[in-house]
Amino acid sequence: MAFYLVTGGAGFIGSHMVEALRKRGDRVRVADSLVTGKRTNLAHVDEVELLEGDLADEAFARKAVEGVEYVLHQAAIPSVPRSVDDPITSNRANIDATLSLLVAARDAGVRRVVYAGSSSAHGNIATLPKREDMPTAPVSPYALQKLVGEQYMKMFTDLYGLSTVTIRYFNVFGPRQDPGSAYSGVISLFIRYLVEGQAPTIHGDGGQTRDFTYVANVVDGALRASQAETPVSGKVINVATGTRISLNDLFNTLKAITGAHVEPVYGPTRAGDVRDSLADITLARDLLGYRPLVGLEEGLRETVAWYASTQQPA
Ligand code: UD1
Repeated sequence: MAFYLVTGGAGFIGSHMVEALRKRGDRVRVADSLVTGKRTNLAHVDEVELLEGDLADEAFARKAVEGVEYVLHQAAIPSVPRSVDDPITSNRANIDATLSLLVAARDAGVRRVVYAGSSSAHGNIATLPKREDMPTAPVSPYALQKLVGEQYMKMFTDLYGLSTVTIRYFNVFGPRQDPGSAYSGVISLFIRYLVEGQAPTIHGDGGQTRDFTYVANVVDGALRASQAETPVSGKVINVATGTRISLNDLFNTLKAITGAHVEPVYGPTRAGDVRDSLADITLARDLLGYRPLVGLEEGLRETVAWYASTQQPA
């Protein structure tokens, strides 16, 4: 049994990590500001210690890491458009909190910190698939903040010998992703609109592509990274599916799964948007023994079923 801290553990991805860790019998503490996370995301999991607070506050960060062996740092304010609208708030959550957590983890002798990086770091570089060592060119505050976070990880490994690994996520989706705001992930929004019989908006021509990754895959990748004995420390590793789909095709797939009779509305391209995104997952396979567990269509079905189960009967 190991002792894990999951920051952002009451959020979408974090709560799936907590669930997986408890299932295998590990001890889990969650640190969450509950700004976007929710207690209800953890209601079905037993024996989880929840600390509510802001990791940018150094005293809180020190309390959060006390006695902990492994940290899964998932806490962040996600969303490219939210960071374009309010870069200061997302900077504090995504950079200040990450630095204060790293200092606390270093001083507490944590064995390894696994960090949630983002594919957005690559911006619009033309080459696909995106390999970890390709150039970074962030085109939004969120992308820049996530890139600074991963560089801090590597720096703490090099300067202080703290073991860190960055897992770069590529558009994660699944149950508990909140469709409640205009900043929500596109799959959660499309499903919500389709289930409610309303027309979703596609920003741009819908030809943009993404490597949409079901949440169980990134949970598996991050847990593997936390205890891997291969030389992962200080590295950045893509965890995704290695396939991509356009937004138009995604919409049509979801339409077929939900059986909805709705057509999308097309709007202007979103500021800070990346055109194409696809991961090369060779490094994850070689260093972590990772392979995607759940494909796109199966993941979409699971997610639609979950949203349907949360709807109140009329
Ligand atoms: C980006 C990152 C991802 C990160 C996420 C955090 C890239 C390639 N990916 O995702 O790694 O985890 O931010 O929030 O940078 N869209 C619509 N209609 C909508 C909503 C969105 O057409 O109602 C479009 C967007 O314009 C975009 C695509 O759907 O082209 C995906 O958007 P979203 O789900 O917000 O994620 P990214 O910004 O791609």
